[in-house]
Amino acid sequence: MIRHCFVAGAGLMGHGIAQILATAGRTVDLYEPDLARAEAGRARIAGNLDRAVAKGRLDATARQEILDRIAATDRITAAAEADLVVEAIFEDEDAKRALWASIDGLAPGRAIFATNTSSISIDRLAEALAPARRPSFCGMHFFSPVPVMPLVELIRGTATDDATTDAVCALAADLGKRVIVSADRPGFIVNRILMPLLAEAMRALEEGIGTAEDIDTGARVGLNHPMGPLALADFIGLDVVLGIMRVLHADLGEERFRPPRVLEDLVASGKLGQKSGTGFFSYPRA
Ligand code: CAA
Repeated sequence: MIRHCFVAGAGLMGHGIAQILATAGRTVDLYEPDLARAEAGRARIAGNLDRAVAKGRLDATARQEILDRIAATDRITAAAEADLVVEAIFEDEDAKRALWASIDGLAPGRAIFATNTSSISIDRLAEALAPARRPSFCGMHFFSPVPVMPLVELIRGTATDDATTDAVCALAADLGKRVIVSADRPGFIVNRILMPLLAEAMRALEEGIGTAEDIDTGARVGLNHPMGPLALADFIGLDVVLGIMRVLHADLGEERFRPPRVLEDLVASGKLGQKSGTGFFSYPRA
């Protein structure tokens, strides 16, 4: 039974994951090595819940109860209490492996380990764990905004056992998420589909086929996508998109996954999309 969760990473994905776990009655330690970042993640959750209260979708008491179930922490040793550890740090294989190796030495034997990686091989990450731990390790890939998008990709590694996938499926159902199961292949299912779309939109921009506005309007109005591909890339974070495309390109070696020059240039100049205020579009700060 998953009662207490340790979520590593309080950014775009981690804070959303902590929010839905606490909303589903679990207690959560929301961890960042820098306490201010963990607290910022918790404050972001408070803001999301405030909006839900303002819209009449949540009452003030429930809001407080959800928030009270989430503790911001900079103590990795809090993983010692966890039934479930979800890792949602930035998309860097070495950083993820180092974190998992530390948590492996702290968490109880019963804990389920789930990484929210969007592209890195589950088997490669599992190598950071002791062999006895590997059956409890899997990919649990959420979509942004986590409280809104009703999908979880479950990725089984070679060693992942049925008890782990059954527990993750039961939890996902409790969280109101639909599960799809993906093989441990680069980008899994959704990013394998999404990244070529985003890359093609960027190449269309580079080639001057249309303006950023018209490319996005094409997808929104002509294909009924909720966001155009360039706005979606800005929303995900251009550094994150670049990281995923690099993994896909390196692991699959196909041209269609090569990160477009315009994306490389934007990231190199610190234009990371919504979170930095500029990407393919501008996002004036309130
Ligand atoms: N956090 C929490 N809730 C949010 C939110 C956020 N960042 N943004 C919007 N919402 C909520 C709103 O509060 C609103 O909730 P209610 O229905 O309860 O009122 C609801 O979402 C709809 O929001 P809006 O009416 O303001 O805006 P919208 O109708 O334009 O929808 C959107 C916003 C849901 C983000 C929509 O544009 C959308 O679905 N975009 C595509 C998102 C997508 O493709 N995500 C996947 C990205 S890929 C990924 O995450 C994985 C990866 O590995 C890269």
